Amino acid sequence: MSDSEESEMEFQDEPSALGVKVGSTRTVVSGGDVADPDVVRTLTCLATYTDALTGEEHVLYGEEAATEYPDRVRYMLRSGLPESEETTELAKRFLEEFSRANGLDEDSVVVYAIPTIDNDTGLERLTDIIESGPVGERLIRSYPESLCGAVPALGDGLDAIEDTFLAVNMGSTNLEACAYRRGEQLSPFSTGAITGTEVDRRIANYVEEETQGRVNIDLTTAREYKEDHADFEDYEPFSDIIQQPGGGTYEFTIEDSVMDAVDEFVDDAVDEVANVFMPELANDYMKIYQQALDNPVVLTGGMACIPGIVDEFEARLSDELGREVEATTADDPATAAARGAHRIADRLVELDEY
Ligand SMILES: Nc1ncnc2c1ncn2[C@@H]1O[C@H](COP(=O)(O)OP(=O)(O)OP(=O)(O)O)[C@@H](O)[C@H]1O
Ligand SMILES: [Mg+2]
Repeated sequence: MSDSEESEMEFQDEPSALGVKVGSTRTVVSGGDVADPDVVRTLTCLATYTDALTGEEHVLYGEEAATEYPDRVRYMLRSGLPESEETTELAKRFLEEFSRANGLDEDSVVVYAIPTIDNDTGLERLTDIIESGPVGERLIRSYPESLCGAVPALGDGLDAIEDTFLAVNMGSTNLEACAYRRGEQLSPFSTGAITGTEVDRRIANYVEEETQGRVNIDLTTAREYKEDHADFEDYEPFSDIIQQPGGGTYEFTIEDSVMDAVDEFVDDAVDEVANVFMPELANDYMKIYQQALDNPVVLTGGMACIPGIVDEFEARLSDELGREVEATTADDPATAAARGAHRIADRLVELDEY
């Protein structure tokens, strides 16, 4: 066999690289060419139904499950991690269906972006789901979600893994903060009190107040209002229509509810980061704290998608700390963790780590 034939064989033998984030709201997978990845995003939910003809049980996942079976759709990672054996099994089933439907390669090196939550049992269950999953026959690794999310925010390569910086992950169920030093996580902090889901709850309450009790929206609608309309740069009031119980429709306009809720979110997040996380970090690693603040704070997680939130966070954090700090985020924070994980997986393939 000539050298070139050999290297071609090796090339064909190379597993594919995949980045996966299984989030409480959405699951995101990034595959294909790292420079121009194929990204798939779906709701992390599942519904089963019985075939009317054969009596067999079928499984639906994602948007289809949520819209067709709102009465019994299950979000198995509601709190960020599986809470029971039952939801662990459901999550495995979800991953199987999702992988099959999207043709994910079993012969792969997979990097999972995982949350930094102080819950060992939950993390063990997540590990079980990942390890028994259909992909990653060659290698499975996990890295913190905020590190993966910072990768696309800090350049075209893997600079995030060489730098020292602070990351703040703003997800559905948790606010996480930590410092990274060459990929090592320092002083990890998380709280379940300041979250995207809490913002949705407040939006629902404020909408009720703003409409003098006439409009009650569910949390899915509140989330959609936030995702479609929250904007710190140029917010536009918007209208919606509900069916009234006695018949007929009622049209209303939302002026303040959405922005009040996200405004409080930023204040709460800045307060927690500046007054709880940072003092702990400074106490543990004074030098790292100083060094990290010379670099931009990287905001990750879906809430970082809100237009203008990075500038707001930067201004309010600078105010709170009494010194100029910068903040930054990736192009599309909602998919950044999966894309960053994909880049790490690709590098592991390149390094023959599998
Ligand atoms: N375009 C958008 N505008 C505003 N908010 C968004 C947008 N996209 C996603 N979000 C919000 O971001 C949150 C989801 O973020 P992310 O996907 O990082 O969470 P997660 O990883 O599932 O949750 P967690 O890490 O807390 O377990 C949700 O509250 C969602 O509504
Ligand atoms: Mg998350």
